[in-house]
Amino acid sequence: MAKRKASLPAIRRRGVGMLRWAVRVASSIVLWTMFLHLSNLIGLPRPPLLTARPSCLGGGSTNYSDSSSVSFLAADEVGRLALPAVPRRRFYKSNGYLLISCNGGLNQMRAAICDMVTVARYLNLTMVVPELDKQSFWADPSDFGDIFDVNYFIDSLRDEVKIVRELPHKFRGKVPFSMQPISWSNEKYYLRQILPLVRKHKLVHFSRTDSRLANNGLPLKLQKLRCHVNYNSLRFSPSIEALGKKMVSVLRKTGSFTVLHLRYEMDMLAFSGCTHGCSDKETAELTRMRYAYPWWKEKEIDSEKKRLEGLCPLTPGETTLVLKALGFPRDTRIYIASGEIYGGEKRLAALKTEFPNIVSTP
Ligand SMILES: *[C@@H]1O[C@H](CO)[C@@H](O)[C@H](O)[C@H]1NC(C)=O
Ligand SMILES: *[C@@H]1O[C@H](CO)[C@@H](O)[C@H](O)[C@H]1NC(C)=O
Repeated sequence: MAKRKASLPAIRRRGVGMLRWAVRVASSIVLWTMFLHLSNLIGLPRPPLLTARPSCLGGGSTNYSDSSSVSFLAADEVGRLALPAVPRRRFYKSNGYLLISCNGGLNQMRAAICDMVTVARYLNLTMVVPELDKQSFWADPSDFGDIFDVNYFIDSLRDEVKIVRELPHKFRGKVPFSMQPISWSNEKYYLRQILPLVRKHKLVHFSRTDSRLANNGLPLKLQKLRCHVNYNSLRFSPSIEALGKKMVSVLRKTGSFTVLHLRYEMDMLAFSGCTHGCSDKETAELTRMRYAYPWWKEKEIDSEKKRLEGLCPLTPGETTLVLKALGFPRDTRIYIASGEIYGGEKRLAALKTEFPNIVSTP
C-alpha cells in the first residue's frame, strides 16, 4: 500500500527500533519459508526466486528441485548465495547524481530501491546510497546501513551502476533540484523527462519513491536488474541475518509452525477504507484517522465497492475459513506476525476458536 505516512509521537530508542526491524525481518523469513512449504503442500507454482534463478541469484549451484533444500533456502542460504566474486566495474560517463528518499514501510522501500537502481543504471547516473523513511507510520529511525549490508550493496552492483555512500561535498546542504517522478512511468519517461534534468542540475533528488517504475513492458535487461537488486544486492546486515537465523532455528526446534501476517491493523483499515464487519463506531474512528493524514489522498471510500474489487484485506474471520479450507489441522501452531489487530481479541476470536495454538504478542 503506497503513501502511508504519519508522524506518530513515537519516541523510541534506537535499540528498540532495531529490535523491531529484526522481528520484522525474521517474520518475512518465516513467511517466506511458510509460503514455500505451503506451495509444496498444495502444488502452487514455485515462486520466481526459485524458477528464475539464473537472472536472480547469480552463480549459485544448489539444486532447488529438492523440496527439503527449498525450505531451507530462506533461513540458511539466502545470505550465502552471493556473487562468486566482486564483479568488474562498469565504466561509463556519469550523467549526474541520483539521490532518493524512500518512503513507506520496508517492503515498499525495498521495491522502490530496486526500481531506482534500475533507473540509475539506465540513465548512466551515479547513485547515492538511498535514504530510508524515518517519519513513516512505524517511526523507525534506522538508516540503510542498519538494515542492509551497504558494502555488499555497492560491490554487487559494480558492474551495473556506480553507488556512492554520500553526496559529494559541493551538494551538501544545497540539493539543486528535488521532485517526485510520475507514478508508474516506464523507462522512456525517465530517459526523456528526467535525464535532461539531471544533466542540467548535475543532481536530482527524488523526494519520494512510491512513484515506482512501470511493472510491465520494460526491456528484459531492466527487469533482470530489478530482480538482481532484490534477490541479490539487498542483503540484510550481518547482525539481522544472524538474529533471523537464530530465531528461525529456535522456532523450528518445536516442530512445524505457520506465521500469519493478517495485515489487519488500524492504519491499514483507515488508509484503505476497508471497514467491512466493523461497527459504526469503529468505522467513524477509522474515517477520522484517514482524514487526519493529509498525505493519504483518498478520503471518501466506499468500503463495500472496494472490497468487491478485491482491494481489501481478508478479515481475520475470513482468513480462518481459508486456513480451514486449505486443510490446516486444528492443532497448527500459528504465530501472528503483524502489528496490533484492529478490534483486538474480539476480532481474533474465530481464529482462536478454530486454531487454539495461536501465539500473538499482547
Ligand atoms: C535435482 O534434484 C532432483 C531431485 O533430487 C533430481 O531429480 C535432479 O536430477 C537434480 N538436478 C540436478 C541438475 O542436479
Ligand atoms: C550509457 O553509457 C553507455 C556506454 O557506456 C552508452 O552506450 C549509452 O548510450 C549511455 N546512455 C545514456 C542514457 O547516457
